[in-house]
Amino acid sequence: ESEVPSFIASKVSQYSCQRKTTLNNYNKKFTDAFEIMAENYEFKENEVFCLEFLRAASVLKFLQFPVTRMKDIQGLPCIGDRVRDVIEEIIEEGESSRTKEVLNDERYKSFKQFTSVFGVGVKTSEKWYRMGLRTLEEVKANRTLKLSKMQKAGLLYYEDLVSCVSKAEADAVSLIVKNTVCMFLPDALVTITGGFRRGKKIGHDIDFLVTSPGLKEDGELLHKGLLLYCDIIESTFVKEQIPSRKVDAMDHFQKCFAILKLYQPRVDNSSNNTSRKFDMAEVKDWKAIRVDLVITPFEQYPYALLGWTGSRQFGRDLRRYATHERKMILDNHALYDRREKIFLKAGSEEEIFAHLGLDYVEPWERNA
Ligand code: CTP
Ligand code: MN
Ligand code: MN
Ligand code: MN
Repeated sequence: ESEVPSFIASKVSQYSCQRKTTLNNYNKKFTDAFEIMAENYEFKENEVFCLEFLRAASVLKFLQFPVTRMKDIQGLPCIGDRVRDVIEEIIEEGESSRTKEVLNDERYKSFKQFTSVFGVGVKTSEKWYRMGLRTLEEVKANRTLKLSKMQKAGLLYYEDLVSCVSKAEADAVSLIVKNTVCMFLPDALVTITGGFRRGKKIGHDIDFLVTSPGLKEDGELLHKGLLLYCDIIESTFVKEQIPSRKVDAMDHFQKCFAILKLYQPRVDNSSNNTSRKFDMAEVKDWKAIRVDLVITPFEQYPYALLGWTGSRQFGRDLRRYATHERKMILDNHALYDRREKIFLKAGSEEEIFAHLGLDYVEPWERNA
């Protein structure tokens, strides 16, 4: 048998697309703290510090052992002074005072509540916070606020939407979506992407990619009934469009951020038969579930699949790698070679990795 190569910190790539990151995280204590720090910087729109903590979290998620001494992180990429301080404190004190400060911060607490509503991002939270609003109760009670359709739906189905989606629910929704899409588009290919494709057991939504060999620029698929709430965004893709180099660029596919009504038979827990009839009438037999549906032209499908499978950090690093190491530009539609001035066609994710000169990374190893 060949020997197990020993771990060399300085050989760890700064790009998560050159690392294999499964869901088996030995350093959750640290990465949870980093993610809180990153989120707080996101709320402050400090992208540089935010990314610094997200990259560090991603490096520690990759390690095959728990960090217990400062020596363990020596030589690793993406560990700056700010990150190092947090690690040191967690090793010594068991927790980070900086993270605790953030968790107790009034602004962070408000933004955390506000952004938990579907349709509310940092911009809206900022506006509400400036108006003096602090809690969701205050938001709901405020009659002067102009809420978007999306935000109204987000508040209406709030309790269901904050309770996470299970794998079983994802499978149930997947059947419904597949059956429904196939009624309109018989040869459709419907694939679960996002966290569930990476093997996660829970998620905040379910992401689907829809294509079919004959599919033109955009189908009218999304304009047919099925959804409780649906915000359809029309395709804005222009043929031969050079990919965008932004860190978190939105793509141009026709898509919809939807809320689906998933009927689920309730198990009757009451042993008292007399109250049963009454209870059954009161009980809600469905759950609101967040679903992202993305429609892609057939030839862009592998790029869309790679982009929508994530993780977000994995996608960021793929694009950063393409730009800085290969002079190429990658987005959810295409890969453009700037030296050759050509678009690189791909029929599978494997071919995209090969174009980039990267070893293939399986979806469940992309949990960076
Ligand atoms: N994504 C994208 N373009 C968007 C929105 C999302 O390319 N406009 C990508 C994200 O980068 C991510 C993937 O699609 O990699 C799925 O996004 P999301 O559902 O937010 O995250 P998940 O990894 O599925 O995690 P969760 O369980 O929280 O849904
Ligand atoms: Mn998702
Ligand atoms: Mn998410
Ligand atoms: Mn999503």
